Amino acid sequence: MLAVRPALIGGAVLVALTGFVIARFAVTAAAAREAIASLAGEDAPEIADAGPFGGGIWRALLRLTRSWRERALGAEDRLEDAEAVIAAVLDPLILLDGRRRIVGANAAAERFVGSLGARRDLATALRNPALLAAADAVLQGEAERAVDFADAVPQERQLRAHIARLKRPALDGAVAVLTLHDITALKRAEQQRADFIANASHELRTPLASLIGFIETLQGPARDDSEAQERFLAIMHEQAARMTRLVGDLLALSAIELNEHVPPGGRVALAPLLREGAAALELRAGERDMRVVLDLPAELPEIAGNRDELAQVFQNLLDNAIKYGRAGTAITIGAVALDRPPPEGGPPLPFVAVAVRDLGDGIPREHLPRLTERFYRVDTARSRAMGGTGLGLAIVKHVLNHHRGFLEVESISGIGSVFTVFLRQRAEERPAGMSQNRNNAVI
Ligand SMILES: Nc1ncnc2c1ncn2[C@@H]1O[C@H](COP(=O)(O)OP(=O)(O)O)[C@@H](O)[C@H]1O
Ligand SMILES: [Mg+2]
Repeated sequence: MLAVRPALIGGAVLVALTGFVIARFAVTAAAAREAIASLAGEDAPEIADAGPFGGGIWRALLRLTRSWRERALGAEDRLEDAEAVIAAVLDPLILLDGRRRIVGANAAAERFVGSLGARRDLATALRNPALLAAADAVLQGEAERAVDFADAVPQERQLRAHIARLKRPALDGAVAVLTLHDITALKRAEQQRADFIANASHELRTPLASLIGFIETLQGPARDDSEAQERFLAIMHEQAARMTRLVGDLLALSAIELNEHVPPGGRVALAPLLREGAAALELRAGERDMRVVLDLPAELPEIAGNRDELAQVFQNLLDNAIKYGRAGTAITIGAVALDRPPPEGGPPLPFVAVAVRDLGDGIPREHLPRLTERFYRVDTARSRAMGGTGLGLAIVKHVLNHHRGFLEVESISGIGSVFTVFLRQRAEERPAGMSQNRNNAVI
């Protein structure tokens, strides 16, 4: 029995110890359970008695919870930033999944794809076959593609689409991003440049061909015909002068264009400039029995400008009035200071308006908007016959752009035309109480 007792005691102690350890583990397990449950909760409370093992686990879990929560918040912020960037992109942007369905679009793109409900095939939004083929190529593995296409709705325009694969698929299934850029203005500028070169070459080729023809005649059949030589040389002189005028106008145009973004620095008094311009063309007007009548107020505010460029404006307008006005009539130049809103909108600004008025053929209405295009003429043959280059009004327009002014044309076929130039008054040039009356405009 005695021998059994220590064994019993030992057994009892062992059971008690085991019970204690199990109890401690139970506490640890409960703490762990609570901790795990609290991972999803907002605040994980400190647990007072987490047992000797549980304390460490608990603290580790708490750290893990905090770190995951921070990461989740960081990820949410980054997602919001990315969405804000996409929304801020002005060009339309569309996200596509691997089956060419639209999974996201910014506000600009929603005009093309409509509101984003169920995932729809890109083809329901943009039907252009070349664009869809490019999208398919990228979805099948190509890194990127660009394609130009025309869109007729809501208005005729040229678009360039860029489609690029994302480095890895996004959570919403997006695998490619499609951006659209309106390149209508770019294409138009390209076309205008090409047209301009073609037109300029054509304008030079005609007198050159005629010169070569006359030179060959003078070397051959007219070699000994002094009377013909005289006549041909006069024509050749006129053709060479015509080319000189054309090259002069081209150079003037490109010089003005180069400077167009630098505001002109000088101050110009318009009245003496107009008087000089009228005097310079008096002789030419007289050849057609025409007079230039100046109708200027006693005082005109100065304007900020480049004198030579402005002299060219009035010379070109007067030249046209002499060419296209009826023989024997008067050309009037009027000027007035007035306030009016600029064509781009906004509050009225102080301008000086100068109107050159002729009595003559006038210009049919449909031609008015295009008159300032380079080489645009109502009647090309007539303009050429009168020595015109077709660049006079293009120069006028560019000079006025340079001066932040503008041109208005009013014309009645068979009666005559009024070309009115609006130039900004110098800021410090406005005496108080200067005419505010818009009806004073000489138009
Ligand atoms: N005062 C005017 N009256 C009638 N037509 C005009 C007048 N001014 C310009 N035009 C028309 O506008 C066209 C373009 O003018 P412009 O650029 O000065 O070229 P150009 O005088 O060399 O032909 C002219 O060819 C003419 O058809
Ligand atoms: Mg002209």
